[in-house]
Amino acid sequence: MTNYGVIMNNPAAKPSIEKLETYKPNFGKSKINNLIRLSANESALGTSLKAIKVLNSFTHNLNRYPPQVSDDLISAIANRYYLNKKKIILGNGSDELISIISQAFLEPSDEAIYTEFGFLQFPQAISVAGAKGVIAKDVNFTANVDNILSNINKKTKVIFLANANNPTGTFIPKQEVIRLHKSIPSNILLVYDAAYSEYINNNDYIDGSSLVDNYENVIMLRTFSKLHGLASLRLGWGYCSENILSNLMKVRGPFSVNTAAMLAGIAAIKDIEFQEKSVSHNLEWMRWFEKKLKLLNLEFQTSITNFLLIKFPKEGSYSAQNAVKFLAEKGILVRGMNAYSLPNYLRVSIGNEEENITFIKQLKNFLDN
Ligand SMILES: Cc1ncc(COP(=O)(O)O)c(C=O)c1O
Repeated sequence: MTNYGVIMNNPAAKPSIEKLETYKPNFGKSKINNLIRLSANESALGTSLKAIKVLNSFTHNLNRYPPQVSDDLISAIANRYYLNKKKIILGNGSDELISIISQAFLEPSDEAIYTEFGFLQFPQAISVAGAKGVIAKDVNFTANVDNILSNINKKTKVIFLANANNPTGTFIPKQEVIRLHKSIPSNILLVYDAAYSEYINNNDYIDGSSLVDNYENVIMLRTFSKLHGLASLRLGWGYCSENILSNLMKVRGPFSVNTAAMLAGIAAIKDIEFQEKSVSHNLEWMRWFEKKLKLLNLEFQTSITNFLLIKFPKEGSYSAQNAVKFLAEKGILVRGMNAYSLPNYLRVSIGNEEENITFIKQLKNFLDN
């Protein structure tokens, strides 16, 4: 074989990829068959029966490619949230949108800011794009606008902010979001990830869509994986200027959203009864969790999402790691927080009534041990 005068090595990925770890979602493990999974911030009440009905009858045209863009789904989203159809982009989960935003906007010489305990997909996507991720310190487990602003320099191209944030469950109020946006130069893109916004009924919160309606440098991200209970189908969406949208569509795979996801998404977003039931279930059980955790003398972050970050003693038998292990032995999966450099914490999603009661009962058993 000719070697074209080149020293023969194995093919190498880009250096930024070779040195990167694969992102491994850690749902937890247990030998028990009938698991209670509270480790991935999923919908507590399952999926809208209307979406399931659509999926059950989805048997024809499986040989056909999906449409590149589903006008029906985009219209359904626009109607539900009073948005401009032309600004909505669909993706294979909002994870895909985070990736293609990074690929479309970041060069290796660029910097992108993300917050200290921000969603881990942000640094991953920044690194895959080959750019430099810059961490803005949180204050009390909450994103801090001044710390974000103080990290801006000439190389800054993108700011990633999950509001509310995973895994902390905290948020920054409307006035702070507006201050952040006002203070950044217009050439910096603010990626405002509002994955949990449907759960939030706090007047101080904004989902970012009004910023997108008024400015060119904001993209709001949303998902069908949480309130709408369609995590397995991978469906997310973004709201941004038409110019940003057209650039993202050049990077996105042509058929990244599959037909089943499109059809189920339309049914789910129209099922307002299921959504309202899920939101009130979440609020009711969040208050219940707070009460029970206080009784157990455990510290936690007040959360406006569908999950809670709970603190455990640093050392000794009541550590977060031991709690994760103990609960897994009882068939309950929660998320340890080592990957977020929070080894003394675990994150638990609000489940259904039985799951929540079992979790608290077993947590009490763990602490009484
Ligand atoms: C803040 C945040 N953004 C995005 C996602 C990913 O959503 P999707 O399932 O649409 O990729 C998650 C999932 O946990 C999340 O917590």
